[in-house]
Amino acid sequence: MKHAVVGQTAENRTETHRLRDSVRRVALIGGTTTLDDCLAALYYLIHPRQLVAGAAISEFEHSFAQYIGVRYAYSFCHGRVGLYGLLRGLEIGPGDEVLLQVPTHIVVANAIRYTGARPVYVDCRLDDYNMDLAQAEQHITSRTKALVLQHTFGIPVDLDAALNLARRRSLTLIEDCVHALGATYGGRPVGSFGRAAFFSSEETKTISTTMGGMVVTDDPELATRIQNFQQSCALPSAWQTFRYILKLVLYHGMTEPHIHQYTRAIYEFFGKFNPLPQPTTDEETSGKRPTNYEQRFSNAQAALGLRQLRRLGENVSHRRAIASAYHERLTAEGFHLPRPPVKAEPAFVRYPVWVEDPDLTVRVATRRATLGTWFSSVLEEADSPACGDYEMGSCPRAERAARHLINLPTNPRVTEQDVDAIISAVIQADGLARSQDFRALFKKG
Ligand SMILES: Cc1ncc(COP(=O)(O)O)c(C=O)c1O
Repeated sequence: MKHAVVGQTAENRTETHRLRDSVRRVALIGGTTTLDDCLAALYYLIHPRQLVAGAAISEFEHSFAQYIGVRYAYSFCHGRVGLYGLLRGLEIGPGDEVLLQVPTHIVVANAIRYTGARPVYVDCRLDDYNMDLAQAEQHITSRTKALVLQHTFGIPVDLDAALNLARRRSLTLIEDCVHALGATYGGRPVGSFGRAAFFSSEETKTISTTMGGMVVTDDPELATRIQNFQQSCALPSAWQTFRYILKLVLYHGMTEPHIHQYTRAIYEFFGKFNPLPQPTTDEETSGKRPTNYEQRFSNAQAALGLRQLRRLGENVSHRRAIASAYHERLTAEGFHLPRPPVKAEPAFVRYPVWVEDPDLTVRVATRRATLGTWFSSVLEEADSPACGDYEMGSCPRAERAARHLINLPTNPRVTEQDVDAIISAVIQADGLARSQDFRALFKKG
């Protein structure tokens, strides 16, 4: 592995390092927040009057727009709320259809459903888990108004093909860049290709403000409508913002690899009681609309987002270096790995790997790393895909992917030694799963 940020070489590891590594368990998330961010967060915790409103919001929006290379950016409490406002700004409502891919998150389907429009699901490609554009075209009807284009796992869609489709069929292209802040296509940031795009800074994404979303566009008329929607949203409460900021500080500590195995156990125990704010409500997982859905972003979160945005370049370079190490090693072992489009430079918020038995792989790796299971359902976190009006059997590739995908951590704390340990676990678990499969077949035969 060539990239300096991923750590030292195996040869110069000392005995102390070996001992330290034996208690090291890398977390799936975290690592985007620094100690200095936590100190900045503490400032807001002890100055509650600056938690909700303040100048950091417009500064963050301005910097975000500049980073993406568009003129307008508007922040929200979540990316999903930004999408909802955007759809309303586009006057999408009852009788309209919106194309989106699976796998995706239930909250994306919900944002469409809450406008009264119908989500029309399109299968993914197994090359990059992005939308099968040829199939999307077959689903277009006179009611189709927009296409939500998701850059899954931070892998940009083939945007030349997508723009061509949107142009030919007069569709509005909305980029779902929730996984992809920092990704580029042909050297240009994703989010600057469609009519508009939405992002997230929820804690599992490439930057974290615990929760948060952003809508960007270069279209002045649409921008005014989104701004009006933003102004109509409620301000978050100081208490809620306090809890988000506290969670950011706690997560920074809890995801530190040398204590993560203990904090994870404590979290799993107390997690049942939901002591910390959760990104998705019970109403949302069942497809219903939660109360207080339409909320703005806070000043304290914006100040932290601004700090993380400034470091995004090194953060994403690290993720790419880790992803290429996974790719190199797992390719040699014959694993099915993503093949991004030629002009895509992914952000790799996580690295997806197709395995025989995801649960077994997660268990085998657990001593050294927490692995991810996005998307173990075609509609992530939904009580059932039917809650988002998804008909089982309609997108067979996404359904197969949901049974086989695990995602490996790429965050700034993942080191070369972690990569070694994670790869060994993935290989070991897959070997075990295949031998079990083989034995089961043999017994049946
Ligand atoms: C692909 C995708 N789009 C949108 C969202 C929603 O983002 P947010 O949690 O900021 O609303 C998610 C949530 O993780 C997601 O995975």
